[in-house]
This record gives sequence, structure tokens and C-alpha cells, in this order.
Amino acid sequence: MGRQFFVGGNFKMNGTIKSIKDIIQNLNDAKLDPNTEVVIAPPSLYLLLAREHLRKGLEVAAQNVFDKPNGAFTGEISVDQLKESGITWTILGHSERRVILQEDDKFVASKTKAAVDGGLSVILCCGESLEQREAGKTIEVVTTQLKAVADKIQDWSKIVIAYEPIWAIGTGKVATTEQAQEVHAAIREWLKKEVSAKAADETRILYGGSVTEKNSSELAKQPDIDGFLVGGASLKPAFVDIINSNQ
Ligand code: G3P
Repeated sequence: MGRQFFVGGNFKMNGTIKSIKDIIQNLNDAKLDPNTEVVIAPPSLYLLLAREHLRKGLEVAAQNVFDKPNGAFTGEISVDQLKESGITWTILGHSERRVILQEDDKFVASKTKAAVDGGLSVILCCGESLEQREAGKTIEVVTTQLKAVADKIQDWSKIVIAYEPIWAIGTGKVATTEQAQEVHAAIREWLKKEVSAKAADETRILYGGSVTEKNSSELAKQPDIDGFLVGGASLKPAFVDIINSNQ
């Protein structure tokens, strides 16, 4: 069985009640490729609003979750709280959290384990900086980030990997199809070697970084690109075209 195409919308810290309702209305009214899995990730304040308004069959993701059960952790949200609210996914390990909030590989892995053990699905982000790419360290950086997770988790069936080169995020500088395919293929090879042949065959690997409706169809043709994690363009009506770019 082939891997189902997947498109996630990461709203980051953007939106208002009105604009998020408008984005959702647009998605609800659109003709979306039924073969594509669609997940949107609004800021935590709007998760319930999104779940309430988004049509059935489209899922909502948090942008983060904590690795401890309910308790005295000011500012955090637990896996159980997300689940109770009908939020079935979470993004973890986004470079904005790794860089700005200094989350390290171990913490990302610990949160991934807590999420998966608690029954959430995870969009696990990885990716290199421009400096690391220029030093020829892309594959090493990405596989080191993934290895921290593989040290804690054997079953990758609830994980989708998002390869997001930091230099391509929000810059308008998308990776070429060759650059993206090369890293995706290396990640799949790594999964085969370090996790299992099944994980390599079945794990979706998304590309993220300046994806728009103009470049998504070309990227979607690559054999190891199984979808996208979209930032800025997920806030625009053309997000629908990105969702439909695998047709
Ligand atoms: O998680 C999505 C992301 O970081 C890419 O953002 O705005 O370049 O599509 P953007």
C-alpha cells in the first residue's frame, strides 16, 4: 500500500478568531483531494475553536505538547488535555522551538514519546541551518535529530517526519526538488537501517520551507516527498491548491 499524501498547515503564532474561522470556512467549502490527509495547527488558544468549526475528516494539531502528565507545569498543555479536546496531532521539534526556545534533541524525543504513548500522532520536524548545509553536515544533523527519537521509540506508525531546512523557512527560498529529494531519500535509508524496513516503507516524509501553490506540484512528484508542512501559505486561500497538488 502506498503512503497517503499529507499536508499540514502550521499557522505558527498567527491569526485571530476571525481569520482562523475564515481559513476554516475556506477549507470546509473547498473541494479537497480525498486521498490527501489534511491537518491544521493553529496557536493553542484557538485549538478548540478550530476543532469545533473544522469539518469532519480534517484534523487539528497542536504546535507543541509537554512530556509530563497534568500537574504543576505553568504554561504547558498535556497529551491528555489535547486528546480530550479532540486534538489528534501535535507538531514537535520545529526549528523555531529548537532555536528560539532552545529545545534540544533529548527534550524533543521525550515529548515525542509522551505524545505517541498517550495516543497522539506526531509531525516530527528536523532540518539543518545554512551553515550546517554549507559545511556538508545536512544528513548528519538530520539523522542525529531523528536518532534521539529512535532511541526512545520503536514503533514509528504514529509519526510523520517533516524535513524543514531552516534556511528555507519563511525566506521564500525553497529547496530545489533535487535538494529536498536527496535528504528525504537519505532519511528513508536511515529509517531502513536504524529502525526497520517497515518504518522506511510506511513513514511519510514531508517537506517544509517556503512551500507555495507554485512549487508544490513539482515537489510532490518526487518519490520520497509524501506531502508538506506549510507555514505562511497555509494562512492563504491557496492552501487548498497545495492540498490538491498531488492530483
Ligand atoms: O512548519 C512550517 C514551516 O516552518 C515552513 O514555513 O512559512 O516557510 O512555509 P514557511
